[in-house]
This record gives sequence, structure tokens and C-alpha cells, in this order.
Amino acid sequence: MRHLRVPKQKTQSILDCVNSFEWSSKGYRVLDDGEFKLVPLGDNPPDILPKQLNGFEEKEAEQSERLPQKWIGYLPQFIDEKIISLHEGGWPNAQEPLGDILLFKIEKHLEQYAQEVALAKITHHKKVRAVFRDHGVKGDFRIRELEPLAARLDGQILTVDEINLLSEPAREKLLQTETIVREYNLYIKINPRKAFFSHRLQSQRVHTVESAIKLREMLGRPLDVADPYCGVGPAFTHLLQIDELVGNLLACDINPDAMPLLVDNLTQNGIEVSLDEINEKRFQKSGNYIGVRDALTLTKDSELVGKYDVLLVNLPHETVTHLPHLIGLLKVGSPTLVRGWLIASEEEIPNLTKELQKILPHPLDGSPIVEVERRTQYNTTDWLCRFESWQFISFE
Ligand SMILES: C[S@@+](CC[C@H](N)C(=O)[O-])C[C@H]1O[C@@H](n2cnc3c(N)ncnc32)[C@H](O)[C@@H]1O
Repeated sequence: MRHLRVPKQKTQSILDCVNSFEWSSKGYRVLDDGEFKLVPLGDNPPDILPKQLNGFEEKEAEQSERLPQKWIGYLPQFIDEKIISLHEGGWPNAQEPLGDILLFKIEKHLEQYAQEVALAKITHHKKVRAVFRDHGVKGDFRIRELEPLAARLDGQILTVDEINLLSEPAREKLLQTETIVREYNLYIKINPRKAFFSHRLQSQRVHTVESAIKLREMLGRPLDVADPYCGVGPAFTHLLQIDELVGNLLACDINPDAMPLLVDNLTQNGIEVSLDEINEKRFQKSGNYIGVRDALTLTKDSELVGKYDVLLVNLPHETVTHLPHLIGLLKVGSPTLVRGWLIASEEEIPNLTKELQKILPHPLDGSPIVEVERRTQYNTTDWLCRFESWQFISFE
């Protein structure tokens, strides 16, 4: 195959340039050539290269077999081709990369091949440390039940049996589920076995910031924001990127295991708080309120009533039943914003919309009435939906 012989420091830019042409083909390796690198030109390069590339010496070199482009391309290394074709279309193409771990779900009828699927996935995803079968979220805390299936140690891929031969500390380190995820250009510390986290809502978090900026423009000051189901605090990670957007914050969750992650994520974003401090007292000197709390009891605390400009309600299976207990957190006599997420089937949406309109009866003049909007398919019948309501509760 034809290659371009390029100085090492130019490798990435030349590779990007080659890949930007439609004749480029993926899956070939950059090769070493002493002080130089050989960038592959693929299967069909033009005889005369574009001018950005034609200043480099060309060299013929052998490429070993082309790498598969998808994880399933590695499956034949672990499962007989006949079995693969027998279940064509059923193999779990979806997976959830979370930092350096990768989660996937597999249908019951294929679970006997879960180990092999995990090996194929980790072979393809070269930066992944450990792969887990995701048995779904469980309980009130919505934490994941994860079954380890494969891991990478010093470049070697290990099966479950091989992982089990490691010493306990080595195994624990290899299979730890605390990791850092990147969302846009932000970093969030998570542990799906300890506290809920999903990337699914990342674009929603961006929209929350956009709406908050609008409200700040109306009010002309930083906003006091309540997120009573905050989990590890991803909504705040986004909001706190904007200077002077957040004034006081309420960041609570009923799950005590979410707290160390929440504290780290808030601290990373400029909120001064420590775990000891919130264990002692949820109200901070700064005016923030952070800690373990059942959201249904918040408005029993007179110091929290009428204190917040923004209320986020993210308990998708119970948002509508919890919301009436939270409205009291909103400020009176100025515009406020409520954003919530819920799970509903297509048929339930009109009724839920009516119910929300009853719970949120004080629309801000000129703002649209509250509507439940479908965002992403949750399962075969249900949607993850969102609503946004601009309110003005007057003094009475
Ligand atoms: C769907 S998760 C949302 C977490 C977070 N807002 C996010 O987007 O990652 C719902 C969260 O509500 C918490 N939760 C459940 N019941 C609660 C309650 N009664 N009061 C406060 N938090 C609760 C769970 O522990 C979980 O972290």
C-alpha cells in the first residue's frame, strides 16, 4: 500500500488531512519508519495527491489485515461465524461508554454469549479499562446493577475467569466503577453503582443553561437554583460554567452515596463545600443547601420556602406526583422557571399536560403554557419527556 513518509510530529495533522478526503479508507495503521511515520493512503488514493499532501515522500509498505470498524467485526475471534449469523440483528450494537468503562445490555436469549460480546467490545474499544453487562437501574436511588465481564490490564485483555485469579486489591482496582465522564468539554465524576448518572440528558442540561440565562436577563442578577434530585450534580456542572449565573444553590438527593461524588463535582466547579460540612449541616454559611434529603420534605423547612428562582425536577417516574410538594420552594413576586423530566407513553401525554397546567397555574405573562414534549424513546412504549414552565406567583 502507498504511504506518506512524514516527520513524527506531523503524523496527526497529515492523518486528519488524508481522512478528510472522500477517497480515504479507515482501519489501516500508521507504521513506524525510524524517525518517521508512514501514514497509509488506503485502498483508492488518486494517482496525483492533493497539494497539501504531495510534498511528502511516498513509500510502499505492507499493511497487516485491516482492522474491523465496529465491535462486531471482532466477534468472530470469540464466537463461531455460524452462531453469529444465526442471531444476526440481535447482537447488542448499543453500548454506553462512561469514562474508561463501558456498559452494554444484552437480550436474555443471547446472554450465554455475554462474555464473548464483552471481549469483542473491549478489543474494539481500545481505551476501555473494563466492560460490564448492565442489568438496568434498581430501587429508589436508580443505581445500576453491573456485572463485570472483561477488562484490560497492562494491554492484556482478561476474561471474567482471568480477572477472578487476580489478587483482591488488583481486581477491585481494575473493576472500580468510579470514573470521570466528559460531557461536551466538561468533566463529571460518577459511579453508576453508587449513584444515578446518564448521558441521555446532556443536551437537556445545555438547554437548562440557556433557559437560566434568559431568566437571569429578566431578573438582572444570579439565580438561586434548586435541584432536589441532583444525583452527582451534572446540572450544576453545566450551570456553574457561566459566570454569575448561579447565586445560591440547593443540591440534594435521597441517596447518601451520591454525596462524595456531588461534593467533588461541586468543588471542581468553584463551590466551597466538604463532605464533613454537609454531614454536619446542610445549610452552608455561603447560603447553599447541600446534602441528603427526601425532596418531599423540603418545603417543611421554612428557611427553604420561597427561596428559589429555578426548580429542576428530575425523578421521571414520579415527577408529576412530587411536583406539588416542591412548588413552595419557588420565589413569589418575580418570574421563576420550572424544568422537569418524566416518562410517559404517547397516550398519557395529553392528560399529563393538563395535570401539569393545574399544578403550575401561574404562567408568566407572554410565556407559552406548559407542554409535555417528547425527547427520546425510553422503551418500546414510553418516551422520556420534558416540560418547561415560566411562572409568576404573585403575593396574595
Ligand atoms: C433520574 S435520577 C436524576 C439524577 C440527576 N438529576 C441527573 O440528572 O443525573 C433521580 C435521582 O433522584 C433521587 N431520588 C429518588 N427519590 C428521591 C426523593 N424522594 N428525594 C430526593 N431524591 C430522590 C435518586 O437517588 C436519583 O439520584
